[in-house]
Amino acid sequence: MSKSGRRASLAATLSLLFLAIAAVAPFALAAEDEEKKPKHTTKEVMEKAMKGGLLKKVAGGEATEEEKKELLDMFISLVENKPPRGEMESWHNLAGASALAAAKMVVGRDGAADELKAATNCKACHSQHKPEE
Ligand code: HEC
Repeated sequence: MSKSGRRASLAATLSLLFLAIAAVAPFALAAEDEEKKPKHTTKEVMEKAMKGGLLKKVAGGEATEEEKKELLDMFISLVENKPPRGEMESWHNLAGASALAAAKMVVGRDGAADELKAATNCKACHSQHKPEE
């Protein structure tokens, strides 16, 4: 497939993913109303997955199936969470690409590890969404 074709199909897949999330979000929100707490806060995901080494393990191909799913679960929470700073659209693109790449790791797609590394660029997301010190 051509490069632009691949990009177009990635965009299409991403929008499907967002539609799916948008469809389940009202139920998730209703369930969360009781505790008012996301399954994983963004800070937890940063500490456990990004800084804590889970992402590295998964991207390096050394993670168990369970660990891959744990990373996907955390990245789904990122998409569900509101970013502390920046536009929702940008957040959905960045967090959504990370969740999609983690999902591809779970199902064993070719090139998933490279896609995961590219999607989880720390600086690209922090410059838009991490609060200034
Ligand atoms: C999809 C966006 C995104 C990506 C990718 C991302 N981060 Fe973050 N990160 C954030 C946001 C948003 C915050 C601020 C969270 C808050 O203050 O609630 C944050 C905060 C942090 C923190 C501080 C956590 C705390 O307790 O305050 C660390 C450490 C961190 N990120 C590490 C990383 C590393 C390392 C990577 C790359 C491997 C990375 N992040 C990639 C969005 C991202």
